[in-house]
Amino acid sequence: MPRWLISAVIILVALSWIPLALAVRARTVKKTEPRIHIIQDMDNQPKVKAQSRFTLFADRRGMRPPVAGTVERSAAIGDEATQRGRIADGEWVETTPVEVTPALLARGRERYDIYCSPCHGLAGYGDGMVSRRADQLQEGTWTPPTSFHTELVLSRPDGHIFNSISNGIRNMPSYGSQIPVADRWAIVAYVRALQRSQNATVDDVPIELRAQLR
Ligand code: HEC
Repeated sequence: MPRWLISAVIILVALSWIPLALAVRARTVKKTEPRIHIIQDMDNQPKVKAQSRFTLFADRRGMRPPVAGTVERSAAIGDEATQRGRIADGEWVETTPVEVTPALLARGRERYDIYCSPCHGLAGYGDGMVSRRADQLQEGTWTPPTSFHTELVLSRPDGHIFNSISNGIRNMPSYGSQIPVADRWAIVAYVRALQRSQNATVDDVPIELRAQLR
């Protein structure tokens, strides 16, 4: 083998170590600048940091106030029982802690019709439009909304129903982020009214009107 070839091979082998040495150095030595970052993907993006100015909005605030209608996590009404539907030792609140008035029931009815009736039906039998459509599709994955006129729901304390709205129950999603605490109690009162309307007896009718029924 000619000597020049041996020298060339030795030099090439020596040179081939340089990239490796550079890589090892880059990984171990600390630097003040950020690393070379050739493929960016979405690692570095422009963004508005908390409490900073931002000229897109007229008030120059980067942080935006909550959208109208945003539900506070803990609206400042009532005590713990009103907030959570439970009393301190974990027992359910037996009856609605807010005063039940015709105005509250009217509000409850309106909110119920908006938020609950699509599944539970206007009278609470679990036959809302969503549920009927799901039955029609026959996909076999639909859990029917519980009828309020079953022993189970009739026997639930008010606080339990409040909690089902706040946090959801089994397959039912939570409505706590959409319905404020006061409206949840209004809905509970209206659910109780619905139950009473479907399980009424002659004794619930004022005496002077009973004759008209017979
Ligand atoms: C998207 C459909 C849907 C909506 C909307 C809905 N529910 Fe339900 N709800 C269900 C389903 C499904 C169940 C039964 C869940 C299960 O058994 O897994 C249920 C169960 C219940 C129960 C019985 C829970 C128990 O075991 O005590 C109550 C009470 C109830 N819902 C109240 C409400 C109220 C009040 C609203 C309105 C704020 C509401 N639901 C909105 C689907 C819905």
